[in-house]
Amino acid sequence: MELAALLLVPLLLLFPAAASGEPAHPGYAHAELAACGVAESPERCEEFDGGRIIDISHYYRDDMPAWESGEGVGEFLRLARSMRNGSDIANFSELRLTAHSGTHVDAPGHVFQHYYDAGFDVDTLDLAVLNGPALLVDVTRDSNITVVNYGFTTVFMCRKLMWKKEFDTSYVGFMKDGAQWLVDNTVIKLVGVDYLSVGAFDECIPAHLVFLEKREVILVEALNLEHVIPGMYTLHCLPLRLRGSEGSPARCILIK
Ligand SMILES: *[C@@H]1O[C@H](CO)[C@@H](O)[C@H](O)[C@H]1NC(C)=O
Ligand SMILES: *[C@@H]1O[C@H](CO)[C@@H](O)[C@H](O)[C@H]1NC(C)=O
Ligand SMILES: *[C@@H]1O[C@H](CO)[C@@H](O)[C@H](O)[C@H]1NC(C)=O
Repeated sequence: MELAALLLVPLLLLFPAAASGEPAHPGYAHAELAACGVAESPERCEEFDGGRIIDISHYYRDDMPAWESGEGVGEFLRLARSMRNGSDIANFSELRLTAHSGTHVDAPGHVFQHYYDAGFDVDTLDLAVLNGPALLVDVTRDSNITVVNYGFTTVFMCRKLMWKKEFDTSYVGFMKDGAQWLVDNTVIKLVGVDYLSVGAFDECIPAHLVFLEKREVILVEALNLEHVIPGMYTLHCLPLRLRGSEGSPARCILIK
């Protein structure tokens, strides 16, 4: 059976604080995170069905961090046609995002030109790997993940880097040897982390190369794991069928 490892760095036990500032879309009213059900006004939930279903995707925001940028994702949603302006019969928004924005998957073509040329895009990723048993572990966050320290420590550090607009190179990720250890010694077929790259900044590409080299591991990045307790879950992660793209935003959930 395929196994996914979701690496929680860092761990917070309750709901993440709401992002500061205005919502990305004018149509989105503010709403408290609360028990979800049928309601008059829009509700924003991190969990559904009494906590059985946990959303581990980040919602898209203008001030979500983007790779090596100080500006964040920026305006990604635009009302191309608006009922308020009278001429149309519907509101109609337009998206503009990089394929590696927010919670997203990487396909082998991301770091291998020959895989890109051969068409190993996100539409070729195995849905059986993206949907299956997953172990959420709280890995060391006082150092990057190397072959030496691979394991579990509990140094508590609430960094919440996905809530900071400026890209932060100090996030915790895999060093090349940590990635190699995982590939060589485990049956893990999917690796998910809570910031924009599975690879620590200094070894970002080497770690990606190790994971994607044999096309046997799927990478999921920028998961929202702050409110999830480590343990066994069923993961469901569904990227868009973007043929020709080496990355795709994805909706990821855990089922208890
Ligand atoms: C979108 O459409 C609704 C009607 O469905 C309308 O009331 C609203 O003003 C529209 N929003 C904008 C921003 O135009
Ligand atoms: C309505 O149209 C005007 C002119 O194109 C534009 O400046 C304005 O932003 C539009 N308003 C909305 C809600 O789309
Ligand atoms: C992880 O590596 C990055 C550079 O790749 C570094 O900035 C960061 O401080 C490291 N994190 C820890 C916790 O050592």
